[in-house]
Amino acid sequence: MTRIAGGESLSPQPVHHRTSLVDNHGRRITYLRLSITDRCNLRCRYCRPEQGVPFIHHDEILSFEELERLVTIFAGLGISKIRVTGGEPFSRRGCMPFLERLRRIPGVERLHITTNGVKTAQFLDELAEIAIDGINLSLDTLDPERFKSISRRNYLDSVLEALDGIIARALPLKINSVVLDDTTDQEIRGLAALAKQHPISLRFIERMPFSGRDHAATLEKSDLAARLLRIFPELTECATDQPTTARLFALPGYAGSLGIIQGYSRLFCATCNKLRITPAGILKTCLYDNGTLDLKKLLRGGTSDREISEAVLNCARHRFANGHEAERSASRTAEPSMAKIGG
Ligand code: GTP
Ligand code: 5AD
Ligand code: SF4
Repeated sequence: MTRIAGGESLSPQPVHHRTSLVDNHGRRITYLRLSITDRCNLRCRYCRPEQGVPFIHHDEILSFEELERLVTIFAGLGISKIRVTGGEPFSRRGCMPFLERLRRIPGVERLHITTNGVKTAQFLDELAEIAIDGINLSLDTLDPERFKSISRRNYLDSVLEALDGIIARALPLKINSVVLDDTTDQEIRGLAALAKQHPISLRFIERMPFSGRDHAATLEKSDLAARLLRIFPELTECATDQPTTARLFALPGYAGSLGIIQGYSRLFCATCNKLRITPAGILKTCLYDNGTLDLKKLLRGGTSDREISEAVLNCARHRFANGHEAERSASRTAEPSMAKIGG
């Protein structure tokens, strides 16, 4: 115990006492992405190979109880926003009850989900009931043939049913559209029209090299901002002082906004406020790093909450400055897959 002037004593803080997680570059970390499964009912070209990625054995995936324990610990460290991702989160049985339990964890102020929409429609009433703070829906095209060619599955109708249901319930919605080499301006206009009609964000995303193929693939740098401006000359950028992955733009006559996510260019690292946990329980302090802490080993090795907090704090104090630095330090023989990271 430490004594300070005036005789007041400072006891060690209990772990559930809320602290603030600030990294070695002065960035405050408040956002945790939790990937609860590597499985998915689509096979998007830019995410995983046709035959899928070798699944992680069930025992190697963190249980919901383990995930809840981690979220409680991270909330104690100052994490206030949780995003549940996959693979496809609704591909894991028990996802909805898990979201309900996360909602009740003290300190979790905002709960979000990223989903491909294939199985989402049936859960919309429950998502509304728990007042989900946001649904990010992946939708790259509105054309059924093209949807099939991108995702290797024929499920556009189910995704559109989810989209309609989300809009009908006025749940906060963002649409994620990965822009591919063969995405046409016409397609971009069609998707953007959704944001004209509805108060949603339509975010166009730079493809990143996380498709689970050999490392040989290189990507052309795209200039999404220039392309969008060419298609929509009346765009004006919305200012924000919040850390964000998306640059948002307003357009006259639009109920919502258009956005771009330049994750490959890594233009938003200076304000990066997030950590990730993979389905197998690896903590990543950057999308592009190799993983910095084996949380599963700690959880299953009898480590206390306090020791886990200390280990997380230690990782936060050794974060890479940006995704380029993280990528250079990561040893890789093959491209990782988004399936194992969760976006
Ligand atoms: P919001 O919380 O709504 O801002 O969502 P988000 O953009 O953080 O998450 P989402 O799951 O919707 O991901 C959208 C795209 O952004 C995906 O392509 C992610 O891989 C990418 N992305 C999300 N966070 C990061 C990040 O920290 N770095 C990079 N490079 N890309 C990211
Ligand atoms: N590059 C960019 N975004 C990707 N996503 C999946 N794979 C990639 C990739 N290679 C997006 C999905 C989803 C989000 C979690 O990540 O479209 O919306
Ligand atoms: Fe954060 Fe890494 Fe993404 Fe940059 S590339 S924003 S540091 S996760």
